[in-house]
Amino acid sequence: MGDANPFSEEFFEARRAELEGRVGPRRFQHSLGVADTAAALARVYGADEREARLAGLLHDWDKGYDDPGILARADEVGLTLSDELRSMPRVLHGLTAAAALRRDFPALPETVLAAVERHTLGEVAMGDLDMIVYIADALEPGRTGRTVEKLRKQMGKVPLRELFLEVYAYWVRLIMERRHPMYSRTTEIWNSYMPEQEVFRTMPGADTMPYGRP
Ligand SMILES: [Fe+2]
Ligand SMILES: [Fe+2]
Repeated sequence: MGDANPFSEEFFEARRAELEGRVGPRRFQHSLGVADTAAALARVYGADEREARLAGLLHDWDKGYDDPGILARADEVGLTLSDELRSMPRVLHGLTAAAALRRDFPALPETVLAAVERHTLGEVAMGDLDMIVYIADALEPGRTGRTVEKLRKQMGKVPLRELFLEVYAYWVRLIMERRHPMYSRTTEIWNSYMPEQEVFRTMPGADTMPYGRP
């Protein structure tokens, strides 16, 4: 089972059924919405639709754990966590999911696992698939609100990196408004997408960014 073709319908349906038992009904519907939205974004932005759909389905694979449960899960899958991350159990499910899925389904491509891993905290210089899953998580049809509606209308109309930054900025604002702790690497991650930064200039597609060149 673990080495079955991860792009077969059988694999998708088996994981879908398994996911339904791992998370509550709302999270399950959300995951199906993210899978569909990620596939649609991949179509528009020229990424691999099958990878996007699969990563969307799997991104919240570990969202069903409570705080002590996710810390135990991190130990079980062999993650070494900083004290900071240990104090932020809500953001760990992407990291543990990627590690657990890599262990349990070794045929899953690293691109899919990376998108799962990065969907909560983001990362420096993310690839197209990473951004697509990150965006789909925020803009799938079950998400509501004025900002979400506005951002949803921009899908396919602005470059992928611009849409990603809009969503990233939206999440950062939400974290502050809700008085949640801010991940210490948020500034580093944000800055890596700014044209002034060296890492930005080396990213593929950097010239499609709308706001000026370094
Ligand atoms: Fe998540
Ligand atoms: Fe999610």
